[in-house]
Amino acid sequence: MSYAIIGFGAIGQALAQAFARKNIQVSVAARRPPEAIAPLATAIGPTVTASSLQEALKAEIIILAIPYSGVAELASMTNWSEKTVIDPTNAIKFPDFTPADLGGKSSSSLIQETLSGAQVVKAFNTIPAAILAQSPEEDGGRRVVFLSGDDPAARNSVSALIVDLGFAAMDLGSLQDGAPQQCFHPLWAKNLILKG
Ligand SMILES: NC(=O)c1ccc[n+]([C@@H]2O[C@H](COP(=O)([O-])OP(=O)(O)OC[C@H]3O[C@@H](n4cnc5c(N)ncnc54)[C@H](OP(=O)(O)O)[C@@H]3O)[C@@H](O)[C@H]2O)c1
Repeated sequence: MSYAIIGFGAIGQALAQAFARKNIQVSVAARRPPEAIAPLATAIGPTVTASSLQEALKAEIIILAIPYSGVAELASMTNWSEKTVIDPTNAIKFPDFTPADLGGKSSSSLIQETLSGAQVVKAFNTIPAAILAQSPEEDGGRRVVFLSGDDPAARNSVSALIVDLGFAAMDLGSLQDGAPQQCFHPLWAKNLILKG
């Protein structure tokens, strides 16, 4: 399986550290050209490769570590059919930090519509970047990452990646069932550790 992280800010870098910790190859890309992010990618680890957006979007599993408002720009940049997209976005209005009005839909359902053909799995959005950047092994357990998505095979692939990265995967089911529990909900922004 090939992986790319689009967006190399707080969440993108935290996830790149998780890949590097487990020696898993990942491409990273941002709006800036690859040369601009290469020094930081190299510093994170030898399995993290700075890439152009076009090149990174060839990966089979793509993590969208960008603001929700930037996702539409990516729609025409690749053929999203048969790609699995991991969505860690939180659609938030700033500076009041309240949920954006998405007409009752989840941001992940809208991303599923925008990136036509992609299988979207919401994950990694409930953990603040500063905590996500730390080792997922804490206090004798593993940090919990919630996921939800409509395609069972895509959920399985993302669960496997979460476990390979050293976290505990907690599958909440479909986007309709799971996504509302992953944002502005008691499960959100919590550092939960699974023991045993
Ligand atoms: N920060 C957190 O604690 C946290 C926690 C959970 C979820 N999230 C979610 O994670 C996402 C990223 O947050 P962040 O804090 O990491 O943001 P950030 O630090 O501002 O970084 C955003 C990154 O996205 C890139 N980018 C923006 N639009 C793009 C586009 N259209 N195509 C390619 N790259 C694009 C930027 O590129 P340049 O570097 O070239 O400008 C930058 O690298 C957001 O949706 C946020 O809601 C954040």
